[in-house]
Amino acid sequence: MSNDTIGSIQGEALAALLHEHRHFSPSEAFAKSANAQPSIYEEAAQDPVAWWAKEAEHLKWEKRWDTTLEWDLPFAKWFVGGKLNAAVNCVDRHVEEGRGDKVAYYWVGEPEGEHRVITYRDLLAMVSQAAHALEELGVTAGERVAIYMPMIPEAVVAMLACARIGAPHSVVFGGFSSEALAGRIQDADARVIITADGQFRRGTALPLKPQVDAALETCPNVRSVLVVRRTGGEVNWVEGRDVWWHDLVDRQSTTHTPEAFDAEHPLYIMYTSGTTARPKGILHTTAGYLVHTATTHRYIFDLKPESDIFWTAADIGWVTGHSYIVYGPLVNGSTSVMYEGTPDAGGKDRWWKIVEEYKVSILYTAPTTIRTLMKWGESYPASHDLSSLRLLGSVGEPINPEAWMWYRKYIGRDNCPIVDTWWQTETGGIMITPLPGITSTKPGAAMRAFPGIDADVVDDHGDSVPNGAGGYLVIRKPWPGMLRGIWGDPERYRDTYWSRFPGMYFAGDGAKRDEDGDIWLLGRVDDVMNISGHRISTTEIEHALVGYPAVAEAAVVGASDPITGQAIVAFVTVKGEQAKSEEDGSQLVSDLRDHVATTIGPIAKPRQIILTPELPKTRSGKIMRRLLRDVAEHRELGDVTTLLDPTVVKMIDENLKAHPGTEE
Ligand code: PRX
Repeated sequence: MSNDTIGSIQGEALAALLHEHRHFSPSEAFAKSANAQPSIYEEAAQDPVAWWAKEAEHLKWEKRWDTTLEWDLPFAKWFVGGKLNAAVNCVDRHVEEGRGDKVAYYWVGEPEGEHRVITYRDLLAMVSQAAHALEELGVTAGERVAIYMPMIPEAVVAMLACARIGAPHSVVFGGFSSEALAGRIQDADARVIITADGQFRRGTALPLKPQVDAALETCPNVRSVLVVRRTGGEVNWVEGRDVWWHDLVDRQSTTHTPEAFDAEHPLYIMYTSGTTARPKGILHTTAGYLVHTATTHRYIFDLKPESDIFWTAADIGWVTGHSYIVYGPLVNGSTSVMYEGTPDAGGKDRWWKIVEEYKVSILYTAPTTIRTLMKWGESYPASHDLSSLRLLGSVGEPINPEAWMWYRKYIGRDNCPIVDTWWQTETGGIMITPLPGITSTKPGAAMRAFPGIDADVVDDHGDSVPNGAGGYLVIRKPWPGMLRGIWGDPERYRDTYWSRFPGMYFAGDGAKRDEDGDIWLLGRVDDVMNISGHRISTTEIEHALVGYPAVAEAAVVGASDPITGQAIVAFVTVKGEQAKSEEDGSQLVSDLRDHVATTIGPIAKPRQIILTPELPKTRSGKIMRRLLRDVAEHRELGDVTTLLDPTVVKMIDENLKAHPGTEE
């Protein structure tokens, strides 16, 4: 890999980033009382497996494990022989140990003034009722349940009820289209769906149930749909299949006897984009995942369950929500804020109102949101008392140093450490991060591997790079929260993650080790884009575009964007004589954007679609994406000599300049 292009960062921007030497020493205030002490790295390094086993003692086991790790590369089993119940660890044990009155969630609805306070005792009753309800619907251990819901407490209850009865859940983000939902239901062969009538988005009630109804036209195996009433109003109803949550769940007993499951019992499947058009069902199992999420949550966020109010501002439809709204925080008995809406619902200071009202002490969010808040200006946070905040976290994409500094200054008032946490759906929990009170921080760097994690940056041959050099991020040893496979496709699991560098987990990210040996994440090195912290594959969008009758060929690239990190730019050729006039062209572009939204979801809508008579190809017929990215980012075009027809790319460039109107 050349050192002037790593991931999505190139040339001067990369050079500037790598020569950034600013750093902040560990906070003294934290050092005194931090959950993690400086010896933690050394202790874990001496015997990582034993270190994880020690952390596993925090869980409540029905039967202790016999062997901590069985590693048959690339298949890992953790805590073999152990038995436990995930929901008991998240809920029951806190009630049994006298913490029933402790608040598990302060739920904040999108409409202002709507609040719910849910204690661990309340949560236990709700989860027990939902578990009975699922049993009444015939759900048994091992059977998959799909969850397609807004950010309401019932979504968490649904996940935990599934976990309680050993039914792996597959949560699908509420912004995905019915087609995308159907694909996930079919792949997981889910038999029961939990959803809501609708969801609120910036004050408007948007329907959700119609997407489920449409999806189920191609999912004949689904027998029941459990529907929470959230927005009210008319809904289409299929007798014998659909059942209201308030009819079925509310009449169940509030006590439910849990069964203990094997440590490696599947806990959930989460679909994520890969480099092909078909999303991958990432499988996580029970004990290792709980140990990883709870341990990272305790040390990285320095979680003090007695006093902290923890807020992961993310959606439970993504892994961040699974690990740090639901499982990690609940295992640790913390109090979390859960917010249903967008940062500007009810005003651009909505988040800061929430921080002030609930005295949030730890805030965890994505760089895209930070950049949006930054664009809105500091007057919004300045008009609220944010002095309860003591730690800030970032996740999901590389954070640019400017956004990092703004977050530190205007939200953290220069006295909150920032933890930039790198991880993935596949890793289950955080892998690379500073530890507050111990590690120095640098704006834009995730710094170092979490204790017990063996991360490295390697060159093309798989050799570690020296300090000051770039390469690929790999993980050399198994870790408790690692994916156990791709649902139904063990070969794809091996090929995707374990074949690029034999014996190592290949994350798909470019990384750099700076002069001090600290790690900087530099973006994806494959065909996966990161749009507002959401992972979207270029191939998936190309597939959607060529599925449209008028389209002959499509090439999609991720172009850098000041707010969303990357933005989707599509280059499309049309069949025959279509789109002759300007008007036809803009109509087609608009139809295509809608088509992508219906096929995948609004998050996958291209920012720009450029119609072109041809795509730039090499003599062997390969589309030159590098050039398309140069065009999309308005860069000087590099070497075009390998192109079959060098004039094509110039023509596209001119087209792009002539049609800035396709940009929203
Ligand atoms: O490219 C990395 C980026 O997000 C990808 C994982 O996306 P996903 O599975 O959707 O999980 C996101 C939430 C954990 C990674 O391959 N990424 C995630 N965190 C960071 C990051 N890139 C740079 N810095 C981070 N802190």
